[in-house]
Amino acid sequence: MKPASQMSWEAFHALDPDMQSGLLQKDGHIFHVLYARQFERDRLEAMGLLATRIRKIAKTVDGMHFLRDQLFHKRAMLYFTQPSTRTFLSFYSACQILGMAVGEVRDKSMSSEFKGETPEDAVRSFSSYFDMIIMRSAIGGLAERMAWVFMNSDRPVPVINAGSGKDQHPTQALLDIYTLQRSFEDRGGIDGKTILFCGDLARGRTVRSLANLLTNYDDMRLIFSAPAALTIGNDILASLTKRNVPYEVSADFERFIPEADAIYMTRIQDEWDSVKGESQTVDTSIYAFEKRHLAVLKPDAVIMHPLPRRNEIDHAVDADPRAVYWRQMRNGMWIRAALIATIFNCAERINDYLP
Ligand code: CP
Repeated sequence: MKPASQMSWEAFHALDPDMQSGLLQKDGHIFHVLYARQFERDRLEAMGLLATRIRKIAKTVDGMHFLRDQLFHKRAMLYFTQPSTRTFLSFYSACQILGMAVGEVRDKSMSSEFKGETPEDAVRSFSSYFDMIIMRSAIGGLAERMAWVFMNSDRPVPVINAGSGKDQHPTQALLDIYTLQRSFEDRGGIDGKTILFCGDLARGRTVRSLANLLTNYDDMRLIFSAPAALTIGNDILASLTKRNVPYEVSADFERFIPEADAIYMTRIQDEWDSVKGESQTVDTSIYAFEKRHLAVLKPDAVIMHPLPRRNEIDHAVDADPRAVYWRQMRNGMWIRAALIATIFNCAERINDYLP
């Protein structure tokens, strides 16, 4: 296959994401991060171990100095033109942990896009000042387009997709896998577990990306529970079938709670409504985890949520040790630091720091 730098945008874009994966690497390690499917099991294991190393090293002052020395010569641009709390702040913190200086655009009205500059030109201009671009955009495919633009420019900086359109949120999937790895480390790992997804599965890019990554594990069972109007996309189900991952689709959430090893709750994503108020016409009242459900949940199961939440998890559930969503959020900082360290090729030095 031709390198991406010799490929038209149309040819690059038309490639299956599995085929694009090789083109998104540099010197054998990951460079651009666009899709969850770029991460295979070995890479997920390595990334989880590195995140745990960074977490342990960061516990001491000497360790923090060591980590800050790793990338003090690099700068990252955070271009977030869609709202975000966790992804923005965890990337910001991850960059700081590794010593990187950070710039940000969070509001298009404060950039030259307000004067009519295209998002493509706006993002391209960041590469004149920064060594990495971390971007969240409502425009599906913009991160992919920018990766291709940079591959064809004299400033080939890496692009990390921090959420694009309704489709992909690969780094959320990484932190979700890291949370599952940690939750099940004394139970034989992720293999053989039943994962129950609940909520707006049609427009939840976190669910789509995580479902992709779970195909890396053996003997999984995935259950997707949502009202008919918000059910999981056929493209995800087709990719599960292709990889021989058994799944069930059901409107009955409560029925599956006792069988789940992990429950992944999501909120209704009404920001994507094509007509204002459209989501309010869907009855979502039964797609909520209530305090009474704790009684039927397995003693060693976990309740996850990418957050933010609305009313799909009762606040009374927060105190239960099986509710791991706050820990899950913090895991995002460590796994994103591990990802950035991997992209800039300093994972080995960090792994060697502790005996
Ligand atoms: N999970 C997640 O993407 O949260 P934010 O939208 O707050 O970044």
